[in-house]
Amino acid sequence: MKITINGKVVNANDGDYVLQVARANDIFIPAICYLNDCSPTLACRMCMIEVDSKRSYACNTKVKEGMQILTNTKELWDERNAIMQTYCINHPLQCGVCDKSGECELQNFTHKAKVDTQSFYIKDIDRRHKDWGMLQYDPSLCIVCERCITVCKDKIGDNELKTVARGGEAPAKEFKETMSKDANAVWAKFQKSLIAPQNEESLQCQECAECVSVCPTGALINKNFQYRSNAWELSKIPASNPHSSDCELMYYDVKQKSINDNSKMIYRVSNDFHFASLSKAARFAFDIANECKFKDEKEFNHLVSLFKDGKIKNVKFNSYITNEEAYILELLRQKYSFNLVNNEALCFQNFINNFIYHAKEFYNASSNDIKKSDFIISLGSFLRNDHISLYYNINNAIVMNKGAGLNFYPIKDKKIDKISKNFINVNYNFSDEAKVLEFILQYFAKDLPSELSHLANEYEECTKEVEVKTKDEQGNEVKQIQSEIIKKSSLAKMINFDEDKLKDLLIKKNNFTLIIGADCIYNPNASYIAYLCACVQKYTNFKVFIIPPRTNTLGVSLLCKLSKEEDGFTLGYNERGDFSFSNDEHNNLLSSMLNQQEGTFTNYDKRLVPTNAALKFDGYFLNDLANALGLNAEYTIEYTKKLPLNKGFKNIDFDNLSNYYDNAGNNHRGYLLNTQEYVKNLDFQASIKEYKKFELNNDDVIVLANPIANFSKYTNKSSSFNECACLYASKNYLTKHNLKENSMVKISNENEELIVKVVLDENIENSAYLPTYDDKINPFKFFKTHRYCSLNVKEIV
Ligand code: SF4
Ligand code: SF4
Ligand code: FES
Repeated sequence: MKITINGKVVNANDGDYVLQVARANDIFIPAICYLNDCSPTLACRMCMIEVDSKRSYACNTKVKEGMQILTNTKELWDERNAIMQTYCINHPLQCGVCDKSGECELQNFTHKAKVDTQSFYIKDIDRRHKDWGMLQYDPSLCIVCERCITVCKDKIGDNELKTVARGGEAPAKEFKETMSKDANAVWAKFQKSLIAPQNEESLQCQECAECVSVCPTGALINKNFQYRSNAWELSKIPASNPHSSDCELMYYDVKQKSINDNSKMIYRVSNDFHFASLSKAARFAFDIANECKFKDEKEFNHLVSLFKDGKIKNVKFNSYITNEEAYILELLRQKYSFNLVNNEALCFQNFINNFIYHAKEFYNASSNDIKKSDFIISLGSFLRNDHISLYYNINNAIVMNKGAGLNFYPIKDKKIDKISKNFINVNYNFSDEAKVLEFILQYFAKDLPSELSHLANEYEECTKEVEVKTKDEQGNEVKQIQSEIIKKSSLAKMINFDEDKLKDLLIKKNNFTLIIGADCIYNPNASYIAYLCACVQKYTNFKVFIIPPRTNTLGVSLLCKLSKEEDGFTLGYNERGDFSFSNDEHNNLLSSMLNQQEGTFTNYDKRLVPTNAALKFDGYFLNDLANALGLNAEYTIEYTKKLPLNKGFKNIDFDNLSNYYDNAGNNHRGYLLNTQEYVKNLDFQASIKEYKKFELNNDDVIVLANPIANFSKYTNKSSSFNECACLYASKNYLTKHNLKENSMVKISNENEELIVKVVLDENIENSAYLPTYDDKINPFKFFKTHRYCSLNVKEIV
């Protein structure tokens, strides 16, 4: 449709808000409280417009064909001026020391609305500063725009903030009679409320600090940034989240360390909060760079000779590397014939290749599809713990699209219940992932392939009590209970799901997404599960999204020929080996961290995204080793344009890759892979898709998983985490195993044992999990083929 804004005819889509259309067409409408992809709250009224000569608000007015809109009249700006004056009443004059000064929207809109006088006044009240741990709240700076509440509810999914009574007086009547209605309403609301956590005392949330990021003033501030820098002294280095496979756009905000030391330091991470929300890891785990004072030539030459002398049998690495590094490793493998070992990526690679072999295409959903979905099934992912930023998209979809869905996971996460009564936790037994997929196919598939035709018979008869209406002899309506024989899915029964619930959840639902998590990938039945996922993509309305477990698992899987470790000399690249060229403390030669490198990642949307170096690294890069071994590139990023076309990459220079969202939220980050090219060139024969049942005692199962946002040894290296490994257990697990909170326990199976502390995770209702973030312990020894297993746990007395 077409609408006219300030005389300019622009295109709009049904369902768009005027503000979105204006932004997409570079037409400025002032707006403070509105956040993209969130419900409008009408708190600030700055977005007031004239629509066909009537007053309206751009953030909650949907477009209609032929609308005539004015945004810039003198009357509108006079009223905006009055609103900004009310926001400035009793606002402390502390801009000189306020952390937000220089990027404060209160300052900006006060100037924009040309406020040069104050016409209103009211008695101030005592508003004490609140210490909420990582977050600091100064109520005297708060303009009650409610962005913090909105983002936490509609995007992040914790719903941790609310308004509470401020105890201020109402504006005097004399003003009500003389000032604009909108300004008076904003002022009256402002006088009534302040912000507080749900329990009014302390935050009980994941501490992502997205509320701080969206706060237009200095009211909410991160403790670790407070009073450390003026905003205008910081340079923004565009990057991609190095901690998880969203690889979301973020900025390292850097400046020099001190007057005497002009080397750079990261002071904080910031984001384009309208389009790119960050997890706690992305936001806070930035202080992890490695300082390297000199190049250790002796060790470097030793490493080069190990290659040249043919000593290296295996190169073991992880997926926290760039595409360029992965490609260098692959080129070296081709030259020196060693095994490239990365078990996590190998499982993922097998899973994806199996999937593609059967589906004849790549998984077809993106995170944007998830956001647009109104029916979502997540399977085999310990959702909030495994990938919290993906969970933001799910929450956003359920909340904003009045969506529904099912979270199939054996561990019950109580917070997921709070998203919506229409997003239901279904706790099947560990090892029944394939059964869940078979049920999905049974229920949703149109035509099934002959191998799965048996699913049509997986029903059993049972009786159901139903209420029927009949008439008695006098002709009055009476209700009677009768038994009816009905057919119910035996698969649904097996996975503890009452399929009758689906009927209501599916009313008016059109956009379906299935999300596949790590339990499906690290699973002895992974090839059969991948086959079933491919069938879901082929035979149902669901789009399928497979979560790459680590930052660049997908890039590594596309670029490297991976194999199992064999006996012989192992070079560990960022992992421990017989020789370790690594960024952790156990190294022979120190390597850089990802915030010290330029390069690209392949994110979970199959998009190559660039990341820049925020800090200098004076040691050796992998590229130096490659050059010493006969490959030839001055800088690592010379490989960006050489990434193989037959794997879906494009021939584009690193320096020509953009990295931003435009005003309308369109993604201009790197490029989307040509996945058809990968599919076309895939040389892979699917392994047998037979399902092997394995027995587990569900009460004893421990999952290999991390607490929310502490994803890896790299996040844990940051001062914001820095935790020691514990067994995280539900109350139920502690009781069943007779364990006391905070006691030391021995975890064991027939061959291995591990001693850690057991702590309570109040968010989960059953089971326990053991983390991977602590480099000092090796939990992988228990989890060779599965992501979960039965283990003995005993308290040490
Ligand atoms: S704390 Fe900030 S974001 Fe929240 S209501 Fe106040 S000004 Fe708005
Ligand atoms: S830190 Fe994150 S989860 Fe906590 S209140 Fe703020 S937005 Fe919500
Ligand atoms: S942005 Fe529309 S009311 Fe605040």
